[in-house]
Amino acid sequence: MKDDPIKDHPPIWPYSSALAEEDRPPIWGKDGSQVLFKEKYPVVLKTYNDWKDLNPMLEKYIRQQGDRIKHRSNIKAQMTEWNMQLEAGGEHFQKLVDWVREVSIDSSPVQFIPDCYDCWGAVYRKGEYTQSHDHWPAIWSWTYYVNVTSQCSPLVFTNSDYKVQPSNGLLVLFPGWVKHKVPPQECDHERVMVAGNLNARGGMF
Ligand SMILES: [Fe+2]
Repeated sequence: MKDDPIKDHPPIWPYSSALAEEDRPPIWGKDGSQVLFKEKYPVVLKTYNDWKDLNPMLEKYIRQQGDRIKHRSNIKAQMTEWNMQLEAGGEHFQKLVDWVREVSIDSSPVQFIPDCYDCWGAVYRKGEYTQSHDHWPAIWSWTYYVNVTSQCSPLVFTNSDYKVQPSNGLLVLFPGWVKHKVPPQECDHERVMVAGNLNARGGMF
């Protein structure tokens, strides 16, 4: 008997009922379905050895920036300019980025030269959050935690049941097309973090 594409292959994601509109994955198939591949999404967790020295410098320059973006991005919290490597204190952000690039090389299935052109910081106060979004077409995206407690909001991978509880010095590296969000900060601590994207220099080679 011939397959009924709708009946026998229902959409993988229950997007029409269970997910809020902003959390629904993009519709790629003609019938609104997506194909489920068996590859797992790599999420790399690694702690920077010298975070106790680096983090106070990162925090100082993030706070010095104040609120530059005024909640116009997905981040509904205080946010710096988009490329902190070019701002005051940029050398500290460059140090972090160089390490993230090394981790990304070690975590990639083929050799490539990663470039990081955007790297920003944010301070989440009580009630502040980030909407679900992705960083397509970046190869890797990352977050790094500068000043957090165990009570601070996690990083949540929207279309999975996986979330990461931040800790100071922790890097979370994940594919740029994977949706993620941060639920409202519930504690009084100010959650300070850095994020960025990595792209392949020269594209494919
Ligand atoms: Fe993001």
